[in-house]
Amino acid sequence: MKHWKKVFGIMSLLFLSIFLAACNSTDEQASSETGNSEKETTEEKQEEEEKVTLVYSSGVDTTDATEKLIEAFEASHPNIDIEYREMPADTGQQHDQYVTAFSAQSSEIDVFEGDVIWPAEFAQANYTLDLDRFIKADGINMDDYFPGTVAAGKFNGKQWAMPMFSDAGMLYYRTDIVDTPPKTWDELIKQAKSLKGEAGTQFGYLMQAAQYEGLVCNAIEFIASYGGQIINENNEVVANSPETVKAIKKMQEIVNSAFVPDNILNFMETETETAWIEGQSVFARNWPYMQASSNDPERSKVIDKIGITTLPSGDADSAATLGGWMAMINRYTEHPEAAWELVKFLSGPEGQKIRAIEGGSAPTLKALYEDADIKEASPLFANPEFQKVLAAAVPRPVSPIYPEISDILQIELSSALTGDQTAEEAAANIQTKVEAAINE
Ligand code: GLC
Repeated sequence: MKHWKKVFGIMSLLFLSIFLAACNSTDEQASSETGNSEKETTEEKQEEEEKVTLVYSSGVDTTDATEKLIEAFEASHPNIDIEYREMPADTGQQHDQYVTAFSAQSSEIDVFEGDVIWPAEFAQANYTLDLDRFIKADGINMDDYFPGTVAAGKFNGKQWAMPMFSDAGMLYYRTDIVDTPPKTWDELIKQAKSLKGEAGTQFGYLMQAAQYEGLVCNAIEFIASYGGQIINENNEVVANSPETVKAIKKMQEIVNSAFVPDNILNFMETETETAWIEGQSVFARNWPYMQASSNDPERSKVIDKIGITTLPSGDADSAATLGGWMAMINRYTEHPEAAWELVKFLSGPEGQKIRAIEGGSAPTLKALYEDADIKEASPLFANPEFQKVLAAAVPRPVSPIYPEISDILQIELSSALTGDQTAEEAAANIQTKVEAAINE
């Protein structure tokens, strides 16, 4: 695969130089024939030379946002063409592909969208460019962003990633079936059981229970809603607690119930979205983007039948995991200046507005919640309570060893959900294994 790319790369360079040489000789001919001024020719040449193609990659986008973003960027930057690379939907798989490319110092991808859990690791590994000089030169005020989103891109005092959109787990419900959305997990279980089957539904609840990063996000919500934590503010591992055990037991109760799909342990965001917009479930947990597909006339059977609210509480409060995506530049890019232009656009007001309206994703720029078009496109973003949910959302640890911590959580939680170990065993194993990883 790599070998072919190399050969292809050399061949395209060859073609390019033949093509440029041909262009130059035609230019020269044309100017001597028509008497074009030398100045014009130089300008034309410069323009030709300055034209840059950037490779920009992101995970699968089921909305129109990425396409619209590229169109708008190219229209306002005639000297930069974008070649788009689609990466897998699963954040863990994407992560591994980037690690493979960047650890081989590949310059193939210039700009990429990174999960909020990556910047610390990527900065430490020297995979990404430090953005401070660009931020300073363009006078970007980082205080215009929600502080949590800026913090996710900061490591060792430097900004490595620009916030593009924020995620927080939300409860979707069918307004044509549900009178009052549940306030607690026990109420959710009760309603999911009794309402399943209404209006053609097959399921009461959908969540992300496959063994991957999304399971960690769902679990953090359960654990925090019962008052538990994995790692506290002082960086101490506090996973082995009655609160965590209770939360894992509630997850077990839900995934083993008859109101979730039989294959719930294979469910990620895409499976959730597909079943939800088909009208198969009364409730679902997902990120804000699902509002876009729920209201897409070409795909959705639940148009105007969905409400979005906070996730249920356990013994403590309702809790959402803080997710989101950031724009980053490959350290080995051959076009840092052009790459920054794209990063600036994606994380700036114009790019974020397109993503909010077309993609249903939550802006990280505070001012955009006052934007009339955004408020009109999304009742969620128009609701001032949503900003409070974002502000209170539980972040995952900002740590260069986050992938290791996440792997432990994925394995231990998953084996509790399949019944291979008890909730107590899972909490105890998470405690010892995460502690060992941190102290290594
Ligand atoms: C969403 C979140 C991201 C999270 C992922 C898990 O994409 O924005 O932060 O890691 O879901 O599947």
